[in-house]
Amino acid sequence: MPGPGIDLYGEEELAELADVVRSQRISRYGPDDASFPAKVRGFEEAVQAATGAKYALAVNSGTSALLLGFAALGLGPGDEVIVPGFTFIATISSAIYSRARPVLAEIDASFDLDPADVEARITPRTKAIAAVHMLGGPARLRELRSIAERHGIALLEDAAQAFGATYENRWVGTVGDVGIYSFNEYKTITCGDGGMLVTDDEAIYRHAFAFHDQGHSPNRKGVEVGQRPFLGLNFRMNELSGAVLLAQMRKMAAIRSHLRANRDAARDIIAQVPGVAFRESPDMDGDVATHLVVILPTAEIAAEVTRRVGSITLAGSGWHVYSHMEHLLARRTATERGCPFDCAATDARPAEYRAGMLPATDALLSRSISFSIGVQDPNLAPFGVRMRDSIDLARERAEIFAGAARAAIGV
Ligand SMILES: Cc1ncc(COP(=O)(O)O)c(C=O)c1O
Repeated sequence: MPGPGIDLYGEEELAELADVVRSQRISRYGPDDASFPAKVRGFEEAVQAATGAKYALAVNSGTSALLLGFAALGLGPGDEVIVPGFTFIATISSAIYSRARPVLAEIDASFDLDPADVEARITPRTKAIAAVHMLGGPARLRELRSIAERHGIALLEDAAQAFGATYENRWVGTVGDVGIYSFNEYKTITCGDGGMLVTDDEAIYRHAFAFHDQGHSPNRKGVEVGQRPFLGLNFRMNELSGAVLLAQMRKMAAIRSHLRANRDAARDIIAQVPGVAFRESPDMDGDVATHLVVILPTAEIAAEVTRRVGSITLAGSGWHVYSHMEHLLARRTATERGCPFDCAATDARPAEYRAGMLPATDALLSRSISFSIGVQDPNLAPFGVRMRDSIDLARERAEIFAGAARAAIGV
């Protein structure tokens, strides 16, 4: 079972789904009466209430939400967006399909963007910073926000992996100009595939809504001929997904507290190993605690620990490390011509992405292992516990990990 939400699937999700099936209304639009359960709209309202965001738009994936977010920020040919080299591929590919160039930046011990490196990579072309809250932990939002403000550029928060995490008591996703979440099967709550965009800015919301639904304005009643501001596509969420997410949303508090208790129990045990460190969090209380990231003294020691427990280092993550994104390194897109790579009219400089270009990120990831607390992903964190596991099992697994670390370090 990949993420925490799916581990808790049960009668509540079935009851919500049954409502939709009985109503025979499966698209997000329906009549304003009791015959239409309006699950997608209900889920959007539930997220607005929980996060405090003024606007929430449910879509069919986190990737779609990123594309809508970048478009709403006005990203296009000739623009650059700063993204971390440790992220899921979609943060990078959605910038590319917005026809802008991703500029890869280093992460620091927060495992999220290093603000000093971000600042160093800003050019007159930089239009946005994409802060990614990796592995459930908030990025250094205060610093990143202040850099964005100082340079007059936008801050997008990719909170796909951190639904439910907070930063200084605000939900991640609601601090920047626009934020996105994912509800794929590895995420805090899930409907299989789904996503969401949140913002306080009405213009961003209306732009994203129109792009996601063939150019229409929010919550249309029909085909609004003559009133569509621009051409859109279809990234709508359907009612079956909305129904499952509504049930999952009610389990958020329970998910968070269970994950945090298991994280604390595992951390207390692993912390006793001399030489071991943990991810530095700008807000430890806000981490949603799907992962406990352990930093070993050297890459060799980390590799030895992975051999002993049957895991991988974060450098070995197939999805999340820039140097493993062969299609990015080769600059291959679905249509070979045009911006951002074949785009002499707006940017004649070659776009270079190569393994080794982020030495600090490479070095940190090669020394680090995620002890899974609630996301079991063979490409990221195969060893640890899952959502349904007890605190006793979390302690037992942490003892095994700690034993492997002691043996590898030689203490
Ligand atoms: C950091 C990050 N951004 C974006 C996405 C894309 O989300 P989705 O799979 O819903 O398209 C993911 C999904 O794994 C992710 O981890």
